[in-house]
Amino acid sequence: TNEQKALFIIFGGTGDLAQRKLYPSLFNLYKQGFLKDHFAVIGTARRPWNNERYQEIVRNSISGMEVTAKQANEFSSHFYYQSHNVNDTQHYETLRKLADELDQKYTLEGNRVFYLAMSPQFFSIICQHVKTQGLVTDNGYNRVVIEKPFGHDLQSACELNEEINQYFPEKDVYRIDHYLGKEMIQSIPALRFSNNLFNALWNYRYIDNIQITLSEALGVEERAGYYEDAGALRDMVQNHILQTVALLTMNAPMTYTDEDIRKEKISALKALRVYDAAGVKHNFVRGQYGPGNGQVAYRDENQVDPESTTETFVAGRIFVDNMNMANVPIYLRTGKRLTKKETRIDVVFKNAPYNIFGDGQLNRNILSFKVEPNPGMELRLNGKKVDYEEYSIETMKLHHEHGAKTQSKMPVGYEKLLYDVLKGDSSSFSHWDEVYYSWRFVDSVRNAWDNETLAADAFPNYECGSMGPQASKDLLAEDGNNWYLSP
Ligand code: BG6
Repeated sequence: TNEQKALFIIFGGTGDLAQRKLYPSLFNLYKQGFLKDHFAVIGTARRPWNNERYQEIVRNSISGMEVTAKQANEFSSHFYYQSHNVNDTQHYETLRKLADELDQKYTLEGNRVFYLAMSPQFFSIICQHVKTQGLVTDNGYNRVVIEKPFGHDLQSACELNEEINQYFPEKDVYRIDHYLGKEMIQSIPALRFSNNLFNALWNYRYIDNIQITLSEALGVEERAGYYEDAGALRDMVQNHILQTVALLTMNAPMTYTDEDIRKEKISALKALRVYDAAGVKHNFVRGQYGPGNGQVAYRDENQVDPESTTETFVAGRIFVDNMNMANVPIYLRTGKRLTKKETRIDVVFKNAPYNIFGDGQLNRNILSFKVEPNPGMELRLNGKKVDYEEYSIETMKLHHEHGAKTQSKMPVGYEKLLYDVLKGDSSSFSHWDEVYYSWRFVDSVRNAWDNETLAADAFPNYECGSMGPQASKDLLAEDGNNWYLSP
């Protein structure tokens, strides 16, 4: 296999993300030989841990996986801990020494990945110090991976980006959106551009509408501190959903390379129709969960303001005004405490122009990307019903799910993305211009909401365990449509 040589410096190395996602992902890369003898990880955080303690945490974080004691020990022996205050210049000096030492010890050839898994307020101070204290190398690559949220709105995102760009050029900045690492999200361009069937039909003439659902069963859990300020629009729409929209509506990239893909994604996001206040009111629905299903209301969750107006649900109708997709409604919805955890995209095609088989309406052809829980795809077609008497039409499903063997090899989101960082492939990361246009759109919605006085009884407006407020269904009904998934 293609062994990658690199030093990872993880800021926020004791945190939840590192333990739940990064270490298991690194371990999977290790098991497959992509990381082997020539890698090392420095975890930093404020806590005064030592290497032993840190390595134990790393072993714990992979203990649920298929792993032998020997593998766990070998893998975790590559991990080093450095307690660190991100504001203290001196600490970067210590970090630099350790980094150089490990570079020698493991012959890492100067390749470094700086992973910022911390609160965004520290992103620019870290980048600054990493650069000015000489943690970047001359002989290898220096890539910085940035977790979401990238800014809180357009302005703060621009500021953050400017600061980061003083120290790292755009080509070395990897803005993570873990949805872009999901197998079925990655499959969108494959289906669209390698099948003439879809290539030919993928436009306003044949697509009636597109429906994107990212539904979660969990509530806000331990993250109210962040979520109260963010809300579902910033948390899920600005990044995951709009990235998905870009993949669904972009024109075909000239070649399937990061440079060309990003060009087309940027154009698609630039073409998002930005709403004024009336447009937002007409096209967007927000919700907040009340009690239900044995769960408490959002306002009764820990650390949540009892009068909070933070939205835990969003539905919207958006448009990408480019030549192919103009006027095709794209319906999106996401929320916490909905019926179940499920992510699906339904591309709904227009009916055949005339039904020769009878009076009734034919059912629509729908292409579904089933992202979660069981990755797969489905195409609903009309076919002949098995019957003696009558020649009639019924809907059939062509369904594909990868076999168990392939599924077990399917890399999880972070793993695939980390591997891409090592290879220097940024096709599954958000370019700054994509982030810019996403925020420009999201700000228009946010601003309209912020300037609107919410009626006292507006929230909560949906029960835990439901599929969100009635208004989300009405939104589609206005156009004579309905949600195909959990209507
Ligand atoms: C994160 C959001 O980006 O995505 C969370 O901050 C959300 O609120 C999560 O729960 C969903 O990710 P996944 O992979 O579980 O669908």
